[in-house]
Amino acid sequence: MRERIVAGNWKMNTTPQEGVKLACAVAEAIASTNWQTRASASSAESRRQTPSSADNVTVVICPPATHLAIIGEAVKSSSVELGAQNVHWADKGAYTSELSSAMLEAVGCKWVIIGHSERRSMFGETDETVNMRLRHIVKTDIRPIVCIGETLDKRQSEQTFAVLEQQLKVGLDGVELVGREGVVIAYEPVWAIGTGLNATPEQAQEAHRFIRGLLSKMYGKDIADNNVIQYGGSMNEKNANELMACQDVDGGLIGGASLRVDKFLPIIKAAYSQ
Ligand code: PGA
Repeated sequence: MRERIVAGNWKMNTTPQEGVKLACAVAEAIASTNWQTRASASSAESRRQTPSSADNVTVVICPPATHLAIIGEAVKSSSVELGAQNVHWADKGAYTSELSSAMLEAVGCKWVIIGHSERRSMFGETDETVNMRLRHIVKTDIRPIVCIGETLDKRQSEQTFAVLEQQLKVGLDGVELVGREGVVIAYEPVWAIGTGLNATPEQAQEAHRFIRGLLSKMYGKDIADNNVIQYGGSMNEKNANELMACQDVDGGLIGGASLRVDKFLPIIKAAYSQ
């Protein structure tokens, strides 16, 4: 059974105080469910042999950089894991406004988003810089969520697969994937991000299957079969179940709906329900 990762990308939203409140509310809401009961009840040995869906779901929140330290402290004894929205490839130096992996690790980050389409379209991120960040981060204990996805224009001109292939081949160049507990790929069609217009389950499954097939060619079937491919783009409390029910969809990267507990929680529940 593959892992399912549900990650909230808060983008440039919330003050630090609002962020702590939201993070604690998410952690408390999850703790008040019984979704994780099977995981804590079964022994580590039996979990290794027959992982249940409870063992396989990880919830991540990615607040703005200013909140990471304080939220890291607030959720450190909960099941919610902390992620950042970007990371630089150098260890340190004259890179105004950038953050190093050591800085992120020091405040408790276990995850980082790399190559989000907003970074690509507004801030000059390219497949090459995605690759530089990724090559660096795989040498650390932080797990990357690498975003890929086509624009509406490319979809309409039937270049979706070509775009995904280019983004994956260049983005992952020289990077060893390990499958379980390694690099996460997030398929995020750009036309679906923040628009309220999610990909249909058929469109999502088609793209995810293509991505898994490509990973299989690049790294072998075993690794591809165990590698998480999240869907992102207007995932919400209404469509999460049918999107996550798709065979190759392993969780979600959620923007808008991750800013409200009443919307984020049903998405997390959908991941536990598969
Ligand atoms: P959205 O954002 O859920 O608001 O569409 C997704 C993302 O950008 O990761």
